[in-house]
Amino acid sequence: MTEFGPDPLLEATGLARSFGGVYAVRDVDLRVAHGEVRAVIGPNGAGKSTLFNLVSGQLPVQRGRITLGGRRIDQLSPHRRAHLGVAIVFQGARVFHGMSVLENVMVGAHSTSRAGFLAGALRLPRHRAEERAIRARAEEAIERVGLAAWAHRPAETLPLGQQRVMQVARALCGEPRLLLLDEPASGLRAAERERLATLIEQLRAEGLTMILVEHDVAFVTRLADRITVLDLGEVIAEGTTSEIRTDPRVVAAYLGKEAS
Ligand SMILES: Nc1ncnc2c1ncn2[C@@H]1O[C@H](COP(=O)(O)OP(=O)(O)O)[C@@H](O)[C@H]1O
Ligand SMILES: [Mg+2]
Repeated sequence: MTEFGPDPLLEATGLARSFGGVYAVRDVDLRVAHGEVRAVIGPNGAGKSTLFNLVSGQLPVQRGRITLGGRRIDQLSPHRRAHLGVAIVFQGARVFHGMSVLENVMVGAHSTSRAGFLAGALRLPRHRAEERAIRARAEEAIERVGLAAWAHRPAETLPLGQQRVMQVARALCGEPRLLLLDEPASGLRAAERERLATLIEQLRAEGLTMILVEHDVAFVTRLADRITVLDLGEVIAEGTTSEIRTDPRVVAAYLGKEAS
């Protein structure tokens, strides 16, 4: 059961980030409950990816604070945040060519391991035990997303939809508490979107908290408990699908533009 109680898993308050004096994210508040699937929508350039980068730590915050499970994380490195349970599938994430699905997913497991990717990549002897553990975690994640049959194929030979599923497996390696998915369905065909939606539903049933950035409103409304609408770096609306659909500011800023 989703808990919309007083203690959210993620709480961001007053987040701000500008580039060259122009705000990409401005005074954004975001509270996401344990087990919730939240969608973040908004036109191109609204600040969705920047918001994700602030939460995952790829970009330092200029103002505001972020807590995960009540613990302050906004001053921590991306690696520390990953270790505490923040995982991200970046917009347009690429596969590593010449590497199998398993190897691609292992890179994700390395990013949250204590030894880190480099030590693992260099195969230092003292890291061999950890290497085995990482491999086991990667295999488990591949199984979890239903890609076991593809594990030893070169990743670039997978259809795009399967590549996206692989990116999700990579993010799941660190057993995240919060998974950020930045436009995971973009460019996918209908059947592939359907498969991805089913995977997100499965993860949701397993209790994983997710934030999903997506342009396809139908895709979002099916999967999300609540929707946050960004425009020009600010939250202009937040609520359930039906609340959002009828909000005049949302229609003007986003749905209107999409329809045109
Ligand atoms: N690294 C960056 N350097 C300069 N401007 C950036 C950078 N990242 C994002 N921006 C700007 O911030 C705004 C928000 O971008 P972004 O977060 O990518 O939007 P969205 O993901 O909603 O399309 C845009 O105006 C974009 O040009
Ligand atoms: Mg983006």
